[in-house]
Parts: sequence; structure tokens; C-alpha cells
Amino acid sequence: MQTVTTVAALRRQVSLWQARAERIVLVPTMGNLHAGHLALVSRAHTCGSKVVCSIFVNSLQFDREEDLATYPRTPQEDLDALQHACTDLVFMPEHDEVYSEQYQVDRNIPENPLCRELCGRYRPGFFEGVVEVVTRLFHMVKPDVAVFGEKDYQQLLIIRQLVRDLGLDIHIEQVPTQREEDGLACSSRNAYLDPEQRALAPRLYAELVSVGQQIRSGVHTYTLLETQAAHRLDQAGFRPEYVSIRDGNTLEVAQHESGFIAVLAAAWLGKARLIDNFLVRFR
Ligand code: PAF
Repeated sequence: MQTVTTVAALRRQVSLWQARAERIVLVPTMGNLHAGHLALVSRAHTCGSKVVCSIFVNSLQFDREEDLATYPRTPQEDLDALQHACTDLVFMPEHDEVYSEQYQVDRNIPENPLCRELCGRYRPGFFEGVVEVVTRLFHMVKPDVAVFGEKDYQQLLIIRQLVRDLGLDIHIEQVPTQREEDGLACSSRNAYLDPEQRALAPRLYAELVSVGQQIRSGVHTYTLLETQAAHRLDQAGFRPEYVSIRDGNTLEVAQHESGFIAVLAAAWLGKARLIDNFLVRFR
């Protein structure tokens, strides 16, 4: 496994592979890798012949300074895990390397209104920061495939739209959420939970499953389902930002005829902001 920190070194290696018609798969991460990331790497191996993983804590997607400063960073453990997972190359740049003027991306893409919805309403600038770094990474790595998890479902749809808007020939591969045994979605932010909060945390997914099951069994009072679920989370000790029932393909407000529904939520538990979703397919 090679580890590089500069775009020049990254391009040197990836160009050699591309000249040999290798199929390059990118797994973008912010490090502090857990089972969810390793599932992305494992899927990446089935999509191409060379797996590149980036580790870059993107300051543009943090709204508060302390959040960025305290975001868990475990570079050595990450490298060990990626080596074990047979990653071919790890790209670990510093902030100035990624945000150098030299790699300014010349683009003129329409603003995606989805960036302001759901998590975007509560974290202004977050998705714009994600779009900025992912665009830069796509131009730096020039992958054939990029792998993203369903846990960040809104991010996944925003990136699919980004690829269409930029006209990039990159296949976006999506991987189901990895969960702990009790149902809690794997996330670096779970590290912020104390033992009591950790015991309560799976309740978030349980609520989403329960809402999804009611929808599947024909309940159509979506606004009521959302309000009741948020209220139950609040009573249990969460500080819910939203529980929302959306069309699974567009994340527009779900219509009763939507054949694919996403039930999404964001809720604080102590210092951790947890997000999760449950996807309901009817056909
Ligand atoms: O999902 C993440 O970890 C980040 O948002 C991403 C895609 C690596 C961009 O920084």
C-alpha cells in the first residue's frame, strides 16, 4: 500500500495505472475508520482493480471550530486498517494541498436546492463544503467509480446530482449502512456518546424502522408520523432536529404514490449529532 500526501504524487501513480487501463475506485473518507468505511473499501474491490482511499478532514464542512478541532483523528489505526483491507493507495493531504489555488475547480454548476434541505437547514454550508471537497477529489483522483454509504443518504443524492451537473464519467456506487449489533449506525461521532447515551442511541433507528413499517402497512398520515416519532425521540432524551418522510429518489416531500420512501432523521444525543435513515421500497 502506498501513502501519498501530494496531488503530484497521487497523479503520478494513478496516471500509471490509467495508462494500463486499470479501473480506479475512490473511497473518500475523513478518517477515524470504522466498519462502515471498511464495507466501502470492500465494495470498492468489487468495482475496479485499484482502490484509492482518501483521508482528509474537510474544514469546510464543519460549522463550529470546536467540532473540527475535536473531530476524532486516528491516522495510524486508519492506515493499519486500510493496509489490512488491501487498499492500493491512501491519499492523506494537508488542508493547503487540497485547497491550493492550483486545484481550484473551474465549474459553473447550478445550485442544488437539496443542499439547503433537511441536514442542510440545520448545518448551513455543510453540503456546499462536501460538494467543494468531493469535486476537488474527483478532479485530483479522476476515478472511474466512487463509493459512498447510504447512511449519509442526502449526501449520496447530492453527489449523484453533482456528477450529472459536472458531466463526469464517474459511477457512484452506494453501500448499505453498517450497523452495530443493536442497530446503531456505525459513525465516527458515536465516540462522543457516554455509556448511558450509547445504550439509548439505537432508539433512533428503531423509530425510523417503526415509521417505515407503518408506511409499508398503508399508513398515509406522513406529517403525523413525523411529529409523533420526533416527540417520542424527544421524550426518550434525544434533541431531534427532524424526522422526515421523503421520496427516496429525489428527497422531495413524499407523495402517497411514491414507490420508494426514505424516512430520515437527525437528532442530538449529548454531544453527538446522529443521523440515520430507513428506506422503504414498495415495488
Ligand atoms: O462522508 C464523509 O465522510 C465526507 O462527507 C466526505 C464524503 C469524505 C467528504 O469530506
